[in-house]
This record gives sequence, C-alpha cells and structure tokens, in this order.
Amino acid sequence: MGKAKQFAMRVIPGGVADHIRRVHVVASRARDKSMRRLLPASAIRRIDTKRIRRSWLERSSTQGQDFTQLYWSDTDNPNRNALIELAIEVLESIPQVSVLEYGSHVGVNLHMLHTRLGDASVQYFAVEPNVEAFNFMTENLPYVAGLNADDVGFVGARDYPCGPQSRITLSIVNAVFTHMEPQRARNVLEKLARTSQIIILGEGLGCARESHSTFSSEPFFYLHPYISWLQEFGFGEFRQLPKPRPADGEDSGYLVARVLRSSEVDAFSL
Ligand SMILES: C[S@@+](CC[C@H](N)C(=O)[O-])C[C@H]1O[C@@H](n2cnc3c(N)ncnc32)[C@H](O)[C@@H]1O
Repeated sequence: MGKAKQFAMRVIPGGVADHIRRVHVVASRARDKSMRRLLPASAIRRIDTKRIRRSWLERSSTQGQDFTQLYWSDTDNPNRNALIELAIEVLESIPQVSVLEYGSHVGVNLHMLHTRLGDASVQYFAVEPNVEAFNFMTENLPYVAGLNADDVGFVGARDYPCGPQSRITLSIVNAVFTHMEPQRARNVLEKLARTSQIIILGEGLGCARESHSTFSSEPFFYLHPYISWLQEFGFGEFRQLPKPRPADGEDSGYLVARVLRSSEVDAFSL
C-alpha cells in the first residue's frame, strides 16, 4: 500500500477509512487474478511462497490486531484440543519426557500441554521465527527453551535442541509445513527425525504417501510426502487421524510417527 493511502487511513474517520481499505483489497485481488492468468505455475508458486513467508515473519500487533492474544486465547479450538489429547496419549507412560514444538507461535500448545501434564520434570523446547510471538512466549512461558529462528536457523543450529547424545521424546509441527517449500520442510523434518523419538504432524496429509509435494495457490497450501520422507529418516508405525475441523481443501489431519530403531537414527550425526 502506498504512503498516501496509509496516511489517509490514519487520519480519515473510521467509515471512510474502511471504505478505502475495501477498495484497496478489491483492486489488489483483481491485479492478482490477472497476474495469475499470465504467469506460469512455478512463478506463481515462488511469489506466493515468498508472500506467505514474509507475512509470517513481519506480522506484528501494530498492524491493527493483537495477534499474540488471538493465538494465546485460542484454547477452545477443537483442532487444538484434539492435538493436545493426542500428545498426552502418546506421552503416556514414558518417563523423562521432553517436547519440542516447531513453529510454536506464542506457545499456546505447549502452555496447554504443560497445564495438563503438570509435571515439573518435563522439558519444553520451541522454535519460532516471528519476533513478537517469540518474545510473548518467552515472557509467558519461562519453562520453554526457545529458539528465535526460521527453518534455516534451526537446521543450522548445532546444539539446539540438544547434543547428539540426547533425544527429544516428542516433536510437534502444527500448521507450519503447509506454508513451506518442499526442500525447506524436508530439511526441518530430517533434523526433527534425527533428534526425536516420536513426531506428530498436524498438516495437510493428502499426499503423505506420494513421492512429491503438491501445491495449491487458491487457497495457498503445500501438501508434502511426509510418510515417504519419514521412512527415509528411519521412522515407521504411522498412524493417521482426521482433524475435527479440517482446513479447506487441504485434507488435513494428524500423523503420528515413531522412530523404528534407535541405533539406525544414531547413525545420523548432528
Ligand atoms: C498457522 S501458525 C501455527 C502456530 C502453532 N503451531 C499452532 O498450532 O497454533 C504458523 C506458525 O509457523 C511459523 N512459521 C512460519 N514460517 C516458519 C518457518 N520457516 N520456520 C518455523 N516457523 C515458521 C509462524 O511464525 C507461525 O507462528
């Protein structure tokens, strides 16, 4: 949006500002549509992926909505509740538990898990690139060892979440890979597989057993071949469950995967 429009929206009273905002949205959708007709699919994918990536990284409450509170108070969401129940079930009867969430935002999933487990000995880790969400999480969840990084930072962090001798019991990725390009999502999953015993993905599973990712631009999402990737990384015992409220067109659900043989995974060096 141009500087003049931004200025007008600040000084013009509510109703008129809303009207300008609506005109701007309609105009940019029309531009978007004609651009999509002209460009090849690969160019659209590149542009969309970049746009979504930037929107997550730059998202800030100064843009009119307190998005940290929005996530923090989203504790009555059937999908989230189903994810927490699944995590609790998976962790049952395992002593000395550690949990990592990749793309945790403000950490509401870890907060709910911590409240439910109520066990001071559980270790929590979280990776989140958005600075505001990350700061909110570290202020409100002092028991979480966080990493303020995106996929490149996480994959390159040699001692995070832990050194080669230790392992995370459960890693969770929920609604994150759906926005990530195949190679980047695969790199993250490979590192999680090296460091975790169990992985829960809450993502689009429509092509989980295929060999390649697929991409949709309207609405924007990637479906990745999670089961094929995880098998390559030494994981098995796959269990799939539907989300109570699946996202549009994504065929989204939960996938629980377990490492097959520890010795095999130890062969990967961090
Ligand atoms: C739809 S939100 C999901 C948040 C959380 N997992 C949940 O279940 O509520 C996507 C999150 O992924 C984060 N994210 C976006 N790109 C990422 C990347 N490349 N690496 C790690 N996290 C990323 C965003 O900042 C955001 O917090």
